[in-house]
Amino acid sequence: MMSATHSKEETTFDPTPLLSTRIQRYAPGAIRRLLPLENFPGMISLVAGKPNPEVFPFEKITLSLKGSSKQIILTQEDGLADGLQYGLPGGNPDLVKWFKDFQCELHGINRDQEWTCCIGNGSQELLHRTFQVLTDPGDPVLIETPAYPGVVGFLQAEDYKLVQAKTDRHGLDTFELERLLSRWPENQSRPKLLYTIPTGSNPTGRSCPEQRKIEILRLAKRFNFMVLEDDAYYFLNFEDESNGKPRSYLALEREVNREIGRVIRFDSMSKIVSAGMRLGVLTGPLPIVKNVIKLTENINLQPSSTTQMLALSLFRHWGHAGFLEHCAKASEFYRQKRDTFASAAEIHLKHRAIWDIPTAGLFFWITLRLPPGEDTFELLSKKGMEYGLLAIPGVAFMPDNSKTCQLRASFSLVTEEQAYEACRRMAQLVDDAWRDWVRKFVPGCTDKNGLSNPTTTVLS
Ligand SMILES: Cc1ncc(COP(=O)(O)O)c(C=O)c1O
Repeated sequence: MMSATHSKEETTFDPTPLLSTRIQRYAPGAIRRLLPLENFPGMISLVAGKPNPEVFPFEKITLSLKGSSKQIILTQEDGLADGLQYGLPGGNPDLVKWFKDFQCELHGINRDQEWTCCIGNGSQELLHRTFQVLTDPGDPVLIETPAYPGVVGFLQAEDYKLVQAKTDRHGLDTFELERLLSRWPENQSRPKLLYTIPTGSNPTGRSCPEQRKIEILRLAKRFNFMVLEDDAYYFLNFEDESNGKPRSYLALEREVNREIGRVIRFDSMSKIVSAGMRLGVLTGPLPIVKNVIKLTENINLQPSSTTQMLALSLFRHWGHAGFLEHCAKASEFYRQKRDTFASAAEIHLKHRAIWDIPTAGLFFWITLRLPPGEDTFELLSKKGMEYGLLAIPGVAFMPDNSKTCQLRASFSLVTEEQAYEACRRMAQLVDDAWRDWVRKFVPGCTDKNGLSNPTTTVLS
């Protein structure tokens, strides 16, 4: 019913029946729809309220790259004119094509099938748009938990029913998810999507192994939901990639389900090119991409032309291989930072906390061994401030706002010295919490400094 037959064995899933009520109230933008026609030979366009570039003050832009003597010069004839002007809501067609080619190479997807890419001002914008396209306020949404607060924030504000898809050390717990979905009450609408971060999750730093992805894809088909693959840390993987990059949901979908069209993938250029440029890419089935673009043209018209022009000239200069080479260098940079932080944690937090070594991304997810009833929100907001330690308490990543003994520590910016000092201060927070607890609950303990080494004494 939902799938149009593609070949004898393979189908293309059509997500149109899953579209939200709200997206159907939006009409395509009246002006931007006509813009591609301006390029017809001989056409005189009186359509767009485009400013005349003669009044723009820029003559050319010169890009100088670190470690290279070559400069990229953008003149009016060579990219600058487009980069300073209004553009299409789905993004600069040349940049879209660049990414489509790249996705084919990275994820082995077939160019002829019914998918495409569009560009956004960061993947965050595209994530928000996609939720708008697929869901209405109040809908149930499966969300990988601990969850990225950038998504939880707007979902909570619109009163969504956030259904926590639990994770363990290896990413999404598929057994639990299957149990949850097979017991879903008959009289309640079912979730239409699962939001997940498969590589170096924010906040846990964990990556989802291929077998889990396969199980999730099977569940997606069985229970008819879309998979929103937010792979913001895909290019910052610390694992050995000599046999290729880990396969994404997008790459696996066809092989696992003999079907395409259930995966919507989000890539972000923030962690590898520039966060301030605001450049993200959505790759997904045509009906979803078209509707995301429809929202863009109605809301903020388009992603930044200037950013796209800079990115396109950089990517053309690099080519796919140069892009990946740059990512490998960035991954190595962060792998060293991760190792430094891991050594610091080992020295200062060994009996005071538990953590896994992140396999990708920018974060350590640390569980502090706190006294009963204590949580990291209280601890960080009071003592953390006093000791000069900022980290995000676990509660920020819990869609149900439950308090936890966990925190997210980002290792991307800290120096070696700061990493050691941060872990020492964290250890001090744990020790103080136990000291206070002992003073409060252990009869006869009146020593104002508490026990000499409360952590090891109480925990052992
Ligand atoms: C998991 C995840 N998704 C999306 C984003 C947003 O990325 P962008 O800067 O491309 O909007 C972030 C940013 O930190 C993130 O951690």
